[in-house]
Amino acid sequence: MKVVGIVGSLRKKSTNRGLMRAFEELTPADVNLEVADIGSLPLYNAEMDDAYPESATAFKTLIESADALIIATPEYNRSVSGVLKNAIDVASRPYKANSFDGKPVLVVSTSPGGAGGAMAQYHLKQTLLHLNMKVLGQPEFWVGGGGEKFDENGNLTDEKTKEFVKVGWDALLKVAR
Ligand SMILES: Cc1cc2nc3c(=O)[nH]c(=O)nc-3n(C[C@H](O)[C@H](O)[C@H](O)COP(=O)(O)O)c2cc1C
Repeated sequence: MKVVGIVGSLRKKSTNRGLMRAFEELTPADVNLEVADIGSLPLYNAEMDDAYPESATAFKTLIESADALIIATPEYNRSVSGVLKNAIDVASRPYKANSFDGKPVLVVSTSPGGAGGAMAQYHLKQTLLHLNMKVLGQPEFWVGGGGEKFDENGNLTDEKTKEFVKVGWDALLKVAR
């Protein structure tokens, strides 16, 4: 079973990267979780479709190799970050070559605010449904008050959230297996 992770923040000390790290640390034994590098993808424009850049093709190939995905999104101005939207656009094209088609996906988020990125998730889920992904409606996985649940390096320290990471894994694998 292969799961690909995508993190919508490029910050070294990103809390969303830290949340994805917690998923890596708690990966079940028979699962391989590979976190994609989306920072080196080109900014999508439709002229790319005739000759897709190498990094974009490699990203599409990685997504296509996945049995399921986990996406950790920050909330930027009540939506997802530009880098995450760009990565989704890149792998959704060229037309009729949507690499996400039919894949189960768990969306998670964290922010220092109380809502924990919930509004970004609802924008994101709308896009993922359009791409015909199997978007998990439950568990709703947003970690509010991230300032107290991650250390200064973005590592998850909150034990209750770590337990919830296991719940997230179980729910995703139930759909993916
Ligand atoms: C451009 C920008 C917009 C933001 N907008 C929101 C927002 O709408 N809601 C929110 O809860 N946090 C918002 N934040 C704060 C982020 O949640 C916070 O910086 C968070 O740590 C980013 O995730 P990261 O730690 O994974 O990089 C914003 C931050 C930036 C840089």
